[in-house]
Amino acid sequence: MIPLSVPNLSGKEWEYIKECLDTNWVSSVGSFVDRFESEFAEHVGSKHAISVVNGTSALHISLQLSGVQQHDYVIVPNITFIASLNSIKYCGAKPILVDIDPNTWQMDLVLLRKFLEEKTHQKSGNCYLKSDNKKVTAVMPVHVLGNLCNMNKLMQIAKEFSLKVIEDSTESLGSYFENQHSGTFGGFGCFSFNGNKIMTTGGGGMIVTNDADLAQKAKHITTQAKSDKFEYIHDEIGYNYRLVNVLAAMGVAQLEQVPDFIKAKQKIAKKYKAGLQNIDGISFQTVESGVIANNWLFTISSSKQKELIEHLLNSDIQVRPLWKPMNQLEMFVNDLYVTEKDISNKIYANCISLPCSTNLGGQEQDFVIKKIKEFYS
Ligand SMILES: Cc1ncc(COP(=O)(O)O)c(C=O)c1O
Repeated sequence: MIPLSVPNLSGKEWEYIKECLDTNWVSSVGSFVDRFESEFAEHVGSKHAISVVNGTSALHISLQLSGVQQHDYVIVPNITFIASLNSIKYCGAKPILVDIDPNTWQMDLVLLRKFLEEKTHQKSGNCYLKSDNKKVTAVMPVHVLGNLCNMNKLMQIAKEFSLKVIEDSTESLGSYFENQHSGTFGGFGCFSFNGNKIMTTGGGGMIVTNDADLAQKAKHITTQAKSDKFEYIHDEIGYNYRLVNVLAAMGVAQLEQVPDFIKAKQKIAKKYKAGLQNIDGISFQTVESGVIANNWLFTISSSKQKELIEHLLNSDIQVRPLWKPMNQLEMFVNDLYVTEKDISNKIYANCISLPCSTNLGGQEQDFVIKKIKEFYS
């Protein structure tokens, strides 16, 4: 089986993890935690970074520290992984689902603006939904598949309508808009290091922010909100969301290889595009001008999705469809879905992600391309 996307552990992972084991610094504090946080912040160009157990907890904490409360609304694209929506629900808030752009597959910013203009009003510097007068506190752009929307436009909308911005950058390490790294536009950016991401710590995540006070609060509540160095005194409800030293050690080793991983992903994407571009019925995600996408998970849109998936799986090629649109999941069918043409469903019904591990062999990729061509011919 040619796998979809597997970790590449060819750096100093063993060396750094061994150092943790040899020195007995395996748990919740240690020099690798500090090092991972400062090197990650530097890598993405953010002032602060706080490591956490996974991307979902990064989103949860970032929403909470952005002031999202029970019964508030958070705007989010209808095509995303369930974790974006779960983190909103953990805060007791409700999602407002916005349909996606048919070309970039990111949140449709024209629809977003129209919705905010028509359906919300401003009161004392906050945004409220006209229909029930509940607060619309934040917008969460999700940089789906490592691509980005026009972040200048999104930030302008957020400013005009008094919305906090929490970027779900879990898939977009190494992606930029106008030379600024994803995750550094909003109040918070959230990254994931699970097994299939650009880099992995097995499981892990990172919160980035430029706000020193919020960074300190994020560290505090992700470490059980312990307010005294010696005594067990806690000043609020906290979480045990910290990343342990062993995994941070893996993170440091992986981060060193990120530039090479991105180069590999870009090479793979280029080859797929060249190999598949003339096939009638296959198209690709558009990358807007100003965006550098990391090509995290190379995904095509195919007019014969189901049959092509079957054909590739039967050829021992691991592929997968995109997530089912959030408005079609049982938990969210009654939530607000802002759409005109339900592009989400169309993209869902067409997309297929292809093998793109950073160590994918040239012959393996040729085989995938050959099998797709064979199917279409
Ligand atoms: C869009 C999106 N949001 C959130 C997450 C959650 O990250 P994690 O699995 O590290 O909790 C992921 C990845 O799994 C994701 O792809």
